[in-house]
Amino acid sequence: MSAEIDPVKLMKQEVGKAAAALVESGTIVGLGTGSTTAYAIQYIGDRLKSGEIKDIVGIPTSFQAEVLAKEYGIPLTTLDAVDHIDIAIDGADEVDPNKNLIKGGGAAHTREKVVDALANKFVVVVDSGKLVERLGSTFKLPVEVIPMAITPVMRAIAKLGGKPELRMGIRKAGPVITDQGNMVVDVTFDSIDNPAELEKTLNNIPGVLENGLFVGVTDVVLVGEVKDGKPLV
Ligand code: 5RP
Repeated sequence: MSAEIDPVKLMKQEVGKAAAALVESGTIVGLGTGSTTAYAIQYIGDRLKSGEIKDIVGIPTSFQAEVLAKEYGIPLTTLDAVDHIDIAIDGADEVDPNKNLIKGGGAAHTREKVVDALANKFVVVVDSGKLVERLGSTFKLPVEVIPMAITPVMRAIAKLGGKPELRMGIRKAGPVITDQGNMVVDVTFDSIDNPAELEKTLNNIPGVLENGLFVGVTDVVLVGEVKDGKPLV
């Protein structure tokens, strides 16, 4: 009996490999968060180990990315030590036709936005299931909130027409806590007509640290596709 090939996993692997191939020697690389970027981090590590590229340094967007980078032998630095980022590679939960994104499925969107927005080239890696006509149609919008403000922020979001839900962790034992020690509210909107405006409006609510709308930040979107059981990028 042949093992089942998971097409989504295949897409993620191939697109991660394609993104890793864009990294050049001597560059500073923003390392995103999530299962797709995890493959990119792995392949960057492989390229370093084989000597295909050298002298790269990574800036992780989360504790998860930091752990993976260390596992795959990618030297790391911080934003205090560099004056630019050459390329950032990161996943997304939704991508619209204008390359605007919803991110934060892994609760890492605050640091991701800092790193991705600083990069000279921001490359998004997704499987084809992440492409949408309109943001918010398949994925709730993550909003990072400082814990003491959770109730007023949820009320303010409801006043804007959103349906906020506090993100709970495994077995609902407690709320998900971000790398910054905050909580995440996932918001359903009937329709996100103006992502740029909503991004600013949400960030203006006192107690909101950052939301998962990434507007005008993306340079390149690499989309993984599978045809006849074979991956296409
Ligand atoms: C984490 C993110 C991820 O990049 C996003 O959730 C996509 O993850 P995956 O590649 O696992 O589907 O924004 O905050």
